[in-house]
Amino acid sequence: MSVATPVVELTDLKKTYMLGKIPVEALRGVNLKVERGEFLSILGPSGSGKSTLLNLIGALDKPTSGKLLIDGVDLSTLNDNQLTDVRCKIGFVFQFFNLIPRLTAKGNVELALSIADVTKAERIKRAEGLLVSVGLKDRMTHKPAELSGGQQQRVAIARALANNPRFLLMDEPTGNVDSKTAEEVIALIKKLNADGVTIIMVTHDQNLANEAKRTVKVFDGRIVSDMVN
Ligand SMILES: Nc1ncnc2c1ncn2[C@@H]1O[C@H](COP(=O)(O)OP(=O)(O)OP(=O)(O)O)[C@@H](O)[C@H]1O
Ligand SMILES: [Mg+2]
Repeated sequence: MSVATPVVELTDLKKTYMLGKIPVEALRGVNLKVERGEFLSILGPSGSGKSTLLNLIGALDKPTSGKLLIDGVDLSTLNDNQLTDVRCKIGFVFQFFNLIPRLTAKGNVELALSIADVTKAERIKRAEGLLVSVGLKDRMTHKPAELSGGQQQRVAIARALANNPRFLLMDEPTGNVDSKTAEEVIALIKKLNADGVTIIMVTHDQNLANEAKRTVKVFDGRIVSDMVN
């Protein structure tokens, strides 16, 4: 019997940035395995390497050394087109929602879908379904400026889910909303995970990290603890 392939598998992953001639060792050998269905938080102070790690997992940047497998595929073996395909199967959620101001909630979700090979009618139907699933049935035709921070983040989450991603990558998803709204956003994230969506979330907030099922602590470019919450 075969064991399920981890969604993410990192082996001795290192990333060194060059600041002029000065090397900055952002990741110093990270080992991590994330299985399907997990809700993992990556917790660490500012500058510990969280965003660097997320960018590597999201195939947005390349490691200096080490191995990075996504769904069992070694990213170092892929060309640029293949890396783009990998990125399309990952849902990204950022601290600053990054919605397109001139488009409605529905327009923003639909735009993400337009990359995929589906008809306009099907796209609209799917965008509406996604917005309903994040609790925005009554806000589909609102533009970002007409939505609260929490609602904007929910649109961003619906957009991230558009192409049935293998997992969601979140960088401080509640970093730009008040604490009450943060609770709503985290409730949605937990519901998605309960529905089977794999989630990897970066944060410097211990309370937010505790909401995940598992927390990996990063310090100075290394994983210093890995615990079930
Ligand atoms: N493009 C870059 N060039 C040079 N150094 C960088 C670059 N990006 C990040 N760094 C450095 O790498 C280290 C890790 O940065 P990273 O952004 O991953 O931290 P972080 O944990 O996400 O921090 P924060 O909580 O503030 O977002 C830091 O020392 C940072 O200054
Ligand atoms: Mg960061």
